[in-house]
Amino acid sequence: MVNPNPEELETQSATSARHSLIQAETRVTLNINGNSYAVKIEPRVTLLDVLREQLGLTGSKKGCDHGQCGACTVLIDGERIYSCLSLAIMQEGKTITTIEGLGTPEQLHPVQAAFIENDGFQCGYCTPGQICAAVALLDEIKHGNVSAITPDLTSSPPLEALSEAEIKERLSGNLCRCSAYNGIVAAVQQAAGQTPPSPAAAIFVEQTPE
Ligand code: FES
Ligand code: FES
Repeated sequence: MVNPNPEELETQSATSARHSLIQAETRVTLNINGNSYAVKIEPRVTLLDVLREQLGLTGSKKGCDHGQCGACTVLIDGERIYSCLSLAIMQEGKTITTIEGLGTPEQLHPVQAAFIENDGFQCGYCTPGQICAAVALLDEIKHGNVSAITPDLTSSPPLEALSEAEIKERLSGNLCRCSAYNGIVAAVQQAAGQTPPSPAAAIFVEQTPE
């Protein structure tokens, strides 16, 4: 019989200690849409999986699960994040807002209403993430955050002067497989208080039979 190598034994025990730490369930309290949820999760579980699998908040969508499509975008303390790239355990004590918390069918959030009025979606799969990103975008402008293409990097443009190019740049982390981009841009323009919306979107809406 071969005697175990002490170094190997040490590595094995360190690995198994790490695995049991990852697999141990922890109690976490999450503040989501004004409600407090107590969940028991492994530390490696993402916020997106907790929302969808444990809490039934399926508005946030799983597109790529790799931080590349934006379908899972939610707001944490008012800022947008990809919930598929965020561990749920990191969000304890923070304020989480998902699409379910932005408005109600009776009282839509202005951005939700703008998406409907400007044909901002087709299949709707990307829409919850697009709307959360758009809500954050408008706040970012109000807080003076600039983007990579803001002409004057010392201040953000006012909402009324937000260009289509800026909107597209600032929403570039949210993909739409149906390519409803004209309507999405128009919706953001409307929510920013601009008129008229994107000409391309306006033409599309006019041509759609009732
Ligand atoms: S599902 Fe999170 S970015 Fe695609
Ligand atoms: S509306 Fe279908 S993916 Fe965007």
